[in-house]
Parts: sequence; C-alpha cells; structure tokens
Amino acid sequence: MPATDPHVSATVRLGTVGVAHKPVSAAESIAANRLWWDADADDYVAEHGDFLGEASFVWCPEGVTEADAQLLGAVAGRRVLEVGCGTAPCSRWLTTQGAYAVGTDLSAGMLRHARVSADATGVRPPLVQATATALPFAAASFDLACSAFGAVPFVADSDRLMAEVFRVLRPGGRWVFSVTHPMRWIFPDDPGEDGLVAQSSYFDRTPYVEIDERGSATYAEHHRTLGDRIREIVGAGFTLTDLLEPEWPDGHARLWGQWSPLRGKIFPGTAIFVCDKPV
Ligand SMILES: C[S@@+](CC[C@H](N)C(=O)[O-])C[C@H]1O[C@@H](n2cnc3c(N)ncnc32)[C@H](O)[C@@H]1O
Repeated sequence: MPATDPHVSATVRLGTVGVAHKPVSAAESIAANRLWWDADADDYVAEHGDFLGEASFVWCPEGVTEADAQLLGAVAGRRVLEVGCGTAPCSRWLTTQGAYAVGTDLSAGMLRHARVSADATGVRPPLVQATATALPFAAASFDLACSAFGAVPFVADSDRLMAEVFRVLRPGGRWVFSVTHPMRWIFPDDPGEDGLVAQSSYFDRTPYVEIDERGSATYAEHHRTLGDRIREIVGAGFTLTDLLEPEWPDGHARLWGQWSPLRGKIFPGTAIFVCDKPV
C-alpha cells in the first residue's frame, strides 16, 4: 500500500494487505469490485465530486466534456445507456439535455450517492444496479451507450461487456467509452517523477489484484493492450470510428490519482473509443 492511501476506507474495511499480479476469474472480479466500490464510494465523492460536478459529463481527468466534444452526437430525445455510471453525473447531464438516460452500475454504494445527487438537483434518471457484463435490458433498447471510466477496466471478460453493449444498442447506435490509456500499465501509479519510469511489461495481461490476508481479491483491474481493445470492439460487431488520446490542457493543474500535468504533457492518460453499430 502507498504511504498515503487515498482509498483508506476501502483498504481498512476490506482488510486489504497487499498487491498481487495473478489471474482472477470474472466472478471473483465482480464480487471484489462490488464490495470495493461500495467501500470507496464516500472517499470517491469527497475526492472527485466537485471536479465531476452534479450534472456534468466529464470524460476523463484531462477535463474533456461531452458538451465540448460531442462524441455521442445529438442526445435530445435519444435513449442513452450509461455503463458504470457511479454517482451518475453524466446521466444527469444527459437528462438535462433532453435525453432519456439510464444509469447502471455494479455498486449500491455509488448508486446511493447518485440518489443523493438526484435529490439535490431534482434531475432523476432511472438507476439500475447491474454488472455491465449482463445488462438487464432487451436487445436494441438504446440509441446510444456511454461510459466514463466505468466498468470496462474492472471486468475480466471485457469482450463479453462489448457484446452486451452491442446487443442492447439498436442498429446504427453509438458506443463511446473512456478508459485509462493502455500504455499507463507499464508505469507505477504515481503522478510524480517516479511515474515516468517504466516498470512493467505492456504485454503482461496478468491482472492487478489487491488481496486480503487469505489471498482473496479485494479489488481487481484488467489490462488490455490497444490492439486487444480494438479486437474486442470489432469482435463484438462494432466499427471503430475514432480513438481520442486527449492532451493535457495548458493551465489544468488538478491531480487525479496518477494523472498529473507532469505526466500528461509527455504521454496520454486516457483513451476514448468511439464505436458504431452498423445499420
Ligand atoms: C472510476 S468509477 C467511474 C464512475 C463514473 N463514470 C464517473 O465518471 O465518476 C468506476 C465505476 O465502475 C463501476 N463498476 C465496476 N465494475 C463494474 C461492473 N462489472 N459493472 C458495472 N459497473 C462497474 C464501479 O462501481 C464504479 O462506479
């Protein structure tokens, strides 16, 4: 554990004692991450809530907003699924833009904050607790789907997640999601100078797993290379329309975990995939 653990509540509550790089199944990843995000929800909101806003759509720590980037295209009147919505600021922003947004997330703890924010703003998109790998919606239910750092890196079977999103989108629908840029995998999660020195192999897909004293996973993250990610997008049936690698903006001083101006000026921290379901 780092000397100052920003996730101390989750670490203590789940009894995390260390990090392992080891295979972890889809079911164990879901079980661990549900509990981890429940335990971390208060800390997440305290640390990132003001940056994310109550009803705004921020794609990444670099601060790209959907209002500016318009990666989803016109949203008014569209049925939009948000995957891994967390506290759901994006779903609330979409609702304010006239979309019929539905927020889904694995964690009841994160969705509890989403309800608090719904009460505070009066903007109330429906919220559904579900894993993104088994979406409880009929085929072709949505025009658009989106995810800002939700779900995709946390599942062992992200090819299944892509197939699920493909299934619930109508033909001609669009799927846009942001994740940590795959090249960050090779560096330690450090916003400073130490975060500039490569330590791990880009090609090693062994998951990052935090464990308790019995060796059970308390948190899991799954690396995909850029090529892996493109193959699972195309394998699900999507066309990859664009891949954005946002540059760190001048004057943006805000740290987000390992994301910092120092690192962001040198190499990308976020990848945003724009995928279309053929008509
Ligand atoms: C980094 S947060 C992002 C939340 C939100 N999109 C935001 O911008 O703040 C990641 C979210 O993914 C959710 N998540 C993790 N695994 C998931 C899964 N298998 N299915 C759905 N959501 C999942 C977590 O509960 C958490 O709310």
